[in-house]
Amino acid sequence: MTGGRRPTAATRVFALLGDPVSHSLSPLLQNAALAHLGLDGVYVALRCSAAHAPGLVASLACAGGGGNVTVPHKATVLAALDRTTEAVVRTGACNTFWGEEGVVCGDNTDVHGFRAAFTTGMRDPAGARVLLLGAGGAARAVLAALLADRVDRVVVYNRTPQKAAELVARTDDPRLRVADSVDGLDIDVVINATSLGLRSGDPLPIDLERLRRVGGVFDLVYRPEGTALVRTAHSRGIPAVDGTGMLVHQGAAAFARWWGREAPIDVMRHAVTQAGP
Ligand code: ATR
Repeated sequence: MTGGRRPTAATRVFALLGDPVSHSLSPLLQNAALAHLGLDGVYVALRCSAAHAPGLVASLACAGGGGNVTVPHKATVLAALDRTTEAVVRTGACNTFWGEEGVVCGDNTDVHGFRAAFTTGMRDPAGARVLLLGAGGAARAVLAALLADRVDRVVVYNRTPQKAAELVARTDDPRLRVADSVDGLDIDVVINATSLGLRSGDPLPIDLERLRRVGGVFDLVYRPEGTALVRTAHSRGIPAVDGTGMLVHQGAAAFARWWGREAPIDVMRHAVTQAGP
């Protein structure tokens, strides 16, 4: 038994779709919530190709279930959606889907997950001067949340400057600009939305010494033993949090979509932090 109960003919099936998916903690945190509430559902991870992802989204949603979508299919599955939230429109990406009477619905709970984790774990985004590292899908979700939350300005720095320029042009907001260097910046919060730190042995996404001032570090990356960026920030006395909070909050928001009730956030957080390396 992996979900709320022993599977029955009425069990609702939820799946994480992506490639790879075997490292994901989403099955752990969603099944812990199902078990805690005694709900008749199960959550599994399905590695699939871009060719099959939209079909799986439509099939699972129309069969009474739903799921999440991860790298690299978050944009690909838009083709399967009949109805989308504003978060999907603003980011061009979907990470959560479900069905409503034959209508396939999609949301991007990374936006809510970032907002909730940032506000509770770091600070009120209003008035903050932010350095955003990365210009991919995760960076888009971060930007959507920050700009809606009256951030003062966001400087985007990316390995490939062209992608940062495209992100800024697409978003078209006067509070945004691209940086070609991080040297000497005075920043309230550095946000790591690159994939650096996911693998042990990755270099740090930034040398914090190069900034004139940094008030905090928010790393979207989660690793059971903690991330090198967070450890480095702490060793310099800079407040820092990793991606645990965002992982839990985006999962809780997805759970609420599927089950129409509040997720047991503490149970989910416990499942993730107990996972071990
Ligand atoms: P996600 O959806 O997780 O954001 P993504 O869209 O593939 O994934 O984006 C990954 C981000 O991490 C990009 O900003 C990428 O930089 P590039 O645009 O230059 O590819 C960044 N990234 C990945 N590997 C990196 C590395 N070794 N050094 C610096 N940045 C890296």
